[in-house]
Amino acid sequence: MCGIVGYTGKQKAAPFILEGLKRLEYRGYDSAGVAVQEKGGLKLAKKTGRVANLEQEAAKHRLTGTCGIGHTRWATHGGVTDANAHPHVSSDGQIAVVHNGVIENFDSIKKFLLGKGFTFRSETDTEALGNLIAYHYAKEPAANGESRLLNSVRKTLRHVEGTYGIVVLSIDSPGELVCARRGSPLILGLGEGENLVASDVSAIVSRTQSVVYLKDGELARLTPVDFAISTVNEGEIEPVIDQITWSIDAADLGTHTHYMEKEIFEQPAALENAMRGRFSEDGSTAQFGGLNLTPAEFRQVDRFMFCACGTAWHACLVTEHLIERFARVPVEVDYASEFRYRNAPLHPHTLFFVISQSGETIDTLAALREAKRKGYRALAINNVVGSSIAREADGGIYQHVGPEIGVASTKAFTSQLLLGAMMALYIGRMRDMSFSDGLNYVQALKGAPDLVRRVLTQAGHIKAVAARYAGYNDMLFLGRLSLFPIALEGALKLKEISYIHAAGYPAAEMKHGPIAMISERCPSVFFVTKGEMFSKVISSMQEVKARHGRIIAIATEGLELPAGLCDELITIPDCHEAVLPIVATIPVQLLSYYIALERGCDVDKPRNLAKSVTVE
Ligand code: F6R
Repeated sequence: MCGIVGYTGKQKAAPFILEGLKRLEYRGYDSAGVAVQEKGGLKLAKKTGRVANLEQEAAKHRLTGTCGIGHTRWATHGGVTDANAHPHVSSDGQIAVVHNGVIENFDSIKKFLLGKGFTFRSETDTEALGNLIAYHYAKEPAANGESRLLNSVRKTLRHVEGTYGIVVLSIDSPGELVCARRGSPLILGLGEGENLVASDVSAIVSRTQSVVYLKDGELARLTPVDFAISTVNEGEIEPVIDQITWSIDAADLGTHTHYMEKEIFEQPAALENAMRGRFSEDGSTAQFGGLNLTPAEFRQVDRFMFCACGTAWHACLVTEHLIERFARVPVEVDYASEFRYRNAPLHPHTLFFVISQSGETIDTLAALREAKRKGYRALAINNVVGSSIAREADGGIYQHVGPEIGVASTKAFTSQLLLGAMMALYIGRMRDMSFSDGLNYVQALKGAPDLVRRVLTQAGHIKAVAARYAGYNDMLFLGRLSLFPIALEGALKLKEISYIHAAGYPAAEMKHGPIAMISERCPSVFFVTKGEMFSKVISSMQEVKARHGRIIAIATEGLELPAGLCDELITIPDCHEAVLPIVATIPVQLLSYYIALERGCDVDKPRNLAKSVTVE
């Protein structure tokens, strides 16, 4: 949520910062701004709307300085106005700051500073932070061999409650940036004669692949030729330098119109990457390198708890189904935002899992911390390497699907489903699943990328279906067993990018309320597959048809459906139960994408949303 970029080096800072902000725009797109140190002082450009607006504004200011900071905002405190856009400059004009997070005691800080003669131009909590740094800066000795800016930031942060990722500069300290994090990610990029900072590696990977992930409670001081890390309570620390393993091409659109489209079509490769090297040599089970649990310890677990938010929560629900079905171990699933507060009693031998694409979702991180605080071992399924969740978990599994930029999660979700299915296999094979069932299961998972490719060839047909349904304002998604969570996911995908109201239910639940919605104005998407639920789902479809509801059926190839029952048919290949949720997801992703396009929506940046929700 919100994106930060900072640059200090030999080249003009503004072009790099604007380029970085464009790459971070998916993190927030209410407004954007940039501040650069210039010979005559500080130059500032801020604008509501997209980074493209800021680019036009910045061009008027002729920004030539080589040290600067930028921000793209997702509003928390204060409306979407130019004044509330970051960077914020202290009222004495000394300090500029960009900030992600929420300063909880900003009111009392503001009262204190008003008493000291500082003034405020915005409604943001961040401005209080900038003014407090300026207050300490003014009191800091000008030349005692230490960084005046670093010391004043450190003093300020001792009085701050809440969460932050900040980058600060001062007008009279050329080339110096100070950053700090608590709860909001910051990554340093180490270049040749230049150093960078950003809230996300995608903003800096075009310049360097050497990075340092700042930890909570740490500060960093950057100059063009040097960097040093310390803590809020002093003491320099030895940095750990990591190498990013993907290049800028992975974050480019290529030939696609939208990131969401690109990421939907990348799914076969994403699944291949997520499973690579993760099957045992005998081909009968899964293996994971980073669980930090011996098979014997894993064997002791007699209950699992999965927590996540949004789409990742749907992945937990499918994983619950598969672990209970194939490993016969009880699983509980909770929204991370609820779990963190409801003080749920956990069974003693519970293994706790969170699932998070970004690894920065604050509720999921808090749920992980709560489980660890209670003494439970807590693992993570996570995509972004080096994220807060990855670092705080006791172990886990990386998704390895590369950067997901589209705000609506697609390839991250199907890879979470795959890893959940592999976890069910791993646990099942430790218990009662036979060798030959394990072999079949593995073969099925290995075949998933090709099955997804097959569904993707229907994109043209699904686009045509979408064109016929883009005018509706309500839609239901109905499925059973492991496809109930996919019904939830279909409804979430549709509403978040097309603003059509949609809801997902287990198909049989429909008659307990949602059926009241059914009319010729509310179509339903049904998942109908071979097996024990076939006739039950057909009955639910009949009930909809009897009430003049239109039906889009997502059905297994070769199924004989009663004549005239569905208005639209999208087929999916017949497949193993562990793969079915993955394969069934593709049509609802495409349907939502094409409906949103028909409605003229900005699919990659839906209104009010941002990728990675780092505030409560
Ligand atoms: C929906 C979507 C969100 C995220 C949720 C959790 O398409 O992307 O619902 O799934 O915000 O995000 P992560 O997985 O980053 O924790």
